Amino acid sequence: MPNEDSANQAQTLIPLDYMVSKMRIVSVTDETVDTKTFRLEFCDPQQGEQFEFCAGQFGLYSVFGAGEATFCIASSPTQKGYIECSVKRTGKVTNELHQCNEGDVIGFRGPYGNWFPIDRMQGKNLLFVAGGIGLAPLNSLICNCLDLRDQFKEISILYGARSVDDLVYKERLDTWQQMKDVQTLYTVDPGGETPEWKGEVGFVPTVLTSMKPKPENTVVVLCGPPIMIKYVLVSLVELGFSPESAYTTLENRMKCGVGKCGRCNVGNLYVCKDGPVFRCSDLEVLPKEF
Ligand SMILES: Cc1cc2nc3c(=O)[nH]c(=O)nc-3n(C[C@H](O)[C@H](O)[C@H](O)COP(=O)(O)OP(=O)(O)OC[C@H]3O[C@@H](n4cnc5c(N)ncnc54)[C@H](O)[C@@H]3O)c2cc1C
Ligand code: FES
Repeated sequence: MPNEDSANQAQTLIPLDYMVSKMRIVSVTDETVDTKTFRLEFCDPQQGEQFEFCAGQFGLYSVFGAGEATFCIASSPTQKGYIECSVKRTGKVTNELHQCNEGDVIGFRGPYGNWFPIDRMQGKNLLFVAGGIGLAPLNSLICNCLDLRDQFKEISILYGARSVDDLVYKERLDTWQQMKDVQTLYTVDPGGETPEWKGEVGFVPTVLTSMKPKPENTVVVLCGPPIMIKYVLVSLVELGFSPESAYTTLENRMKCGVGKCGRCNVGNLYVCKDGPVFRCSDLEVLPKEF
């Protein structure tokens, strides 16, 4: 069973109801032409003080009158008093959310789902591989791990986007690059570079292969578009990694978020409560459409 222990823990922690909390937007950051990051605080300060989550968990965010959409919590669980989500404009709710400004109030329910197995990552080398807005769920985990830096060995971050304009969290990327105990490699697809670009040019799986990470004692966490995940896994296996040492997240469409409606499931698995975090070896046995 995928991540059975963390999924079971999640079931005891998630509030199995539909209670929506009001959250105020305290800042909006333009990441790319179609992606914004929203920092949110609970309107009820007591709720804010009590709120806890783990890196990898997600929420259902609502624009009143427009509907709800699912986004991971992109900020670190160690940052108290607020949460952040990064939203790519793709349709009805995300369009409405992109019209919202500082001071506006939206709905939030969560945290839902399981989380990255940070306990099992202690004492290991960590390799984070992200593509595009897939850096959002990884950002939560990376910041969490950097706050607990001495619990891990080498930390490497490989991040890619279609073009320089499509890279998210540019300030944070610079911060990580300047850290002496973190190895960073940023890349854009061929043709997506600018004259000023100093990073790599190439697809993430190719850059990963040339990076030659060591499989020994290393946990890999990868998030990004399905096509990137597919070929990164091929590269990892060629480099000697086993799919048991790699984790990823799935983003099936959701409705309830708490295992009630059957919107997100394939077979007997519910992405909302058995996931969204899965060990890559567990995904190999799932039907192709997963
Ligand atoms: C666990 C989880 C975490 C996610 N985290 C993020 C995040 O951090 N940031 C972010 O921008 N997005 C994230 N998503 C995707 C996000 O939920 C959808 O993009 C969003 O629901 C679209 O809502 P909408 O009303 O604007 O689009 P709609 O109007 O409902 O749809 C617009 C188009 O997008 C397609 N679509 C909508 N949702 C999905 C989906 N989940 N998978 C594939 N196609 C879809 C529709 O079929 C349609 O073609 C996450 C999804 C899941 C399940
Ligand atoms: S979203 Fe309803 S069961 Fe998963």
